Amino acid sequence: MPAVSSMRALERPERESEALAEELAARGAAGRPLAIVLGSGLGGLVERLAVRCVIPGAELEHLPRPRVQGHAGEIVLGELGGVPVIIQSGRVHLYEDRSPFEVTRFVRALARLGVRALLLTNAAGGLVAQWAPGTFLCLTDHLNLQGRSPLFRGEGSRASPYDEELGALLEQTARAHHIALERGVYAGLLGPSYETPAEIRALRALGAHAVGMSTVAEANAARAAGLRVVALACIANPAAGLGVESLRHEDVLWVMRRSAERLAVLLERVGPAWAPLLSR
Ligand code: HPA
Repeated sequence: MPAVSSMRALERPERESEALAEELAARGAAGRPLAIVLGSGLGGLVERLAVRCVIPGAELEHLPRPRVQGHAGEIVLGELGGVPVIIQSGRVHLYEDRSPFEVTRFVRALARLGVRALLLTNAAGGLVAQWAPGTFLCLTDHLNLQGRSPLFRGEGSRASPYDEELGALLEQTARAHHIALERGVYAGLLGPSYETPAEIRALRALGAHAVGMSTVAEANAARAAGLRVVALACIANPAAGLGVESLRHEDVLWVMRRSAERLAVLLERVGPAWAPLLSR
């Protein structure tokens, strides 16, 4: 008699990530060791890819597509720093009225496609006043303050989802190429509005170094699905109370677009260092 777990029908979110994986595999996306999710304004990175193939989101029935300016909503296949990659340019967010399962459907599909490691990128507010816009922050851990979880019951562990070994190599690479990169804790909030100064003071007291509205659900789901996870926040602005009072999404996009080039250089350089770790 088969074990009960193997008899269990796939739950709907799992069926949907499986359906997305099948669609992606049919477009040649299987067998790539590295996946990247690009945050707001970072889409320009795909221009630097070798052997580029773009799959418009509209051609993937099961891919939830963003409704936010600055997010293209497409999947790009290519090679970065010698490593075959699959890239999502334009994620969906919980604040777009999406469920945690929709937000994480792509990363769960990646595990089914044989991807080994996932790099999540995002735009964030900096809680350290000295950090200039454009500074990168490699996440060591996060605070999930979104009030939602993408995990199934019994899934997940109590460890940080972020991979120390891959993060350390990223840090070494940044240092060698004089790219400003810090390490610290990201607070993931629901949004869609930016925080108040009092909220930022509270987040600092909780131990956060950056704040944003994405990443935590994807990191938790990807790790639970067996991927090695790295996340890189790009500090777009000082958080509320630490800089100018007003902040518009366009201001964030401006910094991010200017940072895409440095991100591309960093990833091209770290590719050869990461490659041996992605084949085991
Ligand atoms: N807060 C939240 N999310 C953000 C910010 C911010 O200050 N900047 C870019 N994304």
